[in-house]
Amino acid sequence: MCGIIGYNGTDDAIPYLVEGIKNLEYRGYDSFGCAFDKGNSIVIKKDIGRVEDVINKYKLQNLHSNRGVFHTRWATTGSVTVENAHPIMDCTGRIAVAHNGIIENWTELKDSLHGHKFVSNTDTEVLSHLIEENMKGGNTVVDAVKTVFKKIKGSSSFVVLNRDSNELVAIKKGSPLVLGLAKNGIFISSDVPSFVKHTNRVIYLFDGDMAIIGKKHYKISNLISKKIKHNVSIANFSAKDADKGGYEHFMLKEIMEQPGLLKKLEMSDFGEILKIAPLLKTASGVYLVGAGTSFHAARLGARMFRENGINAIPVQGQDLITYKNVILPNDVFIIISQSGETADIITALPIIKANRKIGIINVEGSTLSRAVDILVSLNTGPEKSVASTKAFTLSAVYLTLIAAATAGTLENAISDLKLMNINMYNLLVPSVLAVIRSAAEKINRLDSIFFLGRDYNYIVAVEAALKMKEVAYIHAEAIDAATFKHGPIALVSDKTYAIAFVSGAIEKETLNNLQEVKARGCKIIGIANKPQDVFDIFIRTQDAGRFDFVMQAIIAQLLAYETARKKGLDIDHPKNLAKSVTTL
Ligand code: G6P
Repeated sequence: MCGIIGYNGTDDAIPYLVEGIKNLEYRGYDSFGCAFDKGNSIVIKKDIGRVEDVINKYKLQNLHSNRGVFHTRWATTGSVTVENAHPIMDCTGRIAVAHNGIIENWTELKDSLHGHKFVSNTDTEVLSHLIEENMKGGNTVVDAVKTVFKKIKGSSSFVVLNRDSNELVAIKKGSPLVLGLAKNGIFISSDVPSFVKHTNRVIYLFDGDMAIIGKKHYKISNLISKKIKHNVSIANFSAKDADKGGYEHFMLKEIMEQPGLLKKLEMSDFGEILKIAPLLKTASGVYLVGAGTSFHAARLGARMFRENGINAIPVQGQDLITYKNVILPNDVFIIISQSGETADIITALPIIKANRKIGIINVEGSTLSRAVDILVSLNTGPEKSVASTKAFTLSAVYLTLIAAATAGTLENAISDLKLMNINMYNLLVPSVLAVIRSAAEKINRLDSIFFLGRDYNYIVAVEAALKMKEVAYIHAEAIDAATFKHGPIALVSDKTYAIAFVSGAIEKETLNNLQEVKARGCKIIGIANKPQDVFDIFIRTQDAGRFDFVMQAIIAQLLAYETARKKGLDIDHPKNLAKSVTTL
């Protein structure tokens, strides 16, 4: 869960890499480091703290080089210290390594290295010294990297800058790496948005791929399989999609992009959905697998499938293993993931090797997008805010459409989608935004908030609570409104706030539950399409039938955003989090 970007070419690498690494900060942001070629030596600059601050500290903008590698870290092995920041050098100062992943056998490997001086407490440093060791006797850096790759266990992608050759060497296992083929040089990076301004011609690396990156040419070989083809793809988004587009934060930009994305979806041909529906109808069971926010989309989807008579089971990636004795050959798996790189899910893939897999995934070329038989590409463009918004909504909408297709009502669902898109114009109006801000004013100093709802609304409440925790750091607990009376109601006082989602068939029952809570002093912020006496603050959504959850989710995202904003927090980079979690 780190970000790496390297460049080798005839242009000055530094401005490209400075700009590129800022684009990768969503992958980790506790320390930054860079290594670049300068005459006959490698220069390293690194420090703890945010990329921008370290770059300014060392005035990196004023330096020049044609070849280098930059890294932004989310600490896994070794705490957040300057020494542990990447890239990390060997003893001779000949090579520098930037790494993303975890080397499971690093302590054993470290013990096997004699006479080397370790300066950090990371698994990464083992790579540097092992490469150094394997270059003794005149082996090339490429030979050494090959040998080292065979020795390490776990998921590790890394880029090596070698002082004595003109290339960069990159190797991928687990964490993503992609080549960008620009006019005057070649990029290697964790993600396309970091260089898309300079080229949209990309090659996604596969596990086991080793890329030797020259200034104009590259060579890729796979150390695991000889059969892999490396095609040049054209990225399906532009530099404009990867910037803030005038918004103060990516989170707000991405929330506000949703109406446009839903409108675009309305015009697609739904070919994939029509292919998927018959598979689900004949499956013994349909497992919907996801993590974090994507798991909440999975829960919504499973609820909809069950409504249509499909035996649907939502499962968190890490729990899939617990189903190993009940999985049947014709069970189908729907994998939902924004990044397509979540380790909890990737690790579970062997259990479902023989089963049919469908992916609902945002990042093109990602590990999960390649592991599935049918891919539904979310096509939302890059999602940079750590807290996921548009990917959640689009995944859940796709699942709604797939569920409808299994019941033969896709046409009706598309009409509902179109209707929702029309009603959406009334959702984000100034009066509603003003109520959201005043609600944020009321809750931003609280230590704890309940999120209540029943059935579908409860699942939205769970996602809404996660958003509040992630960006506003408020303990937010979602409880089924029907369950609240079975214990949690003991926690209510006149200092308590609950955010309640009310819509659909169980509206009456939900309102009864809310009355019980209110009678004990709790203030209720209602997110609903009509006002109710029980609400102290009413945030109006628009009626959207089966898509009510879209309206509610967008309001909840904005409420979390405004609450975090009131608290003056770093919304796009919440503490301790990373967007793509590639560790178990
Ligand atoms: C991390 C992120 C969450 C995200 C989850 C799953 O925990 O912080 O925002 O929902 O991973 O990510 P995925 O890319 O698989 O949807």
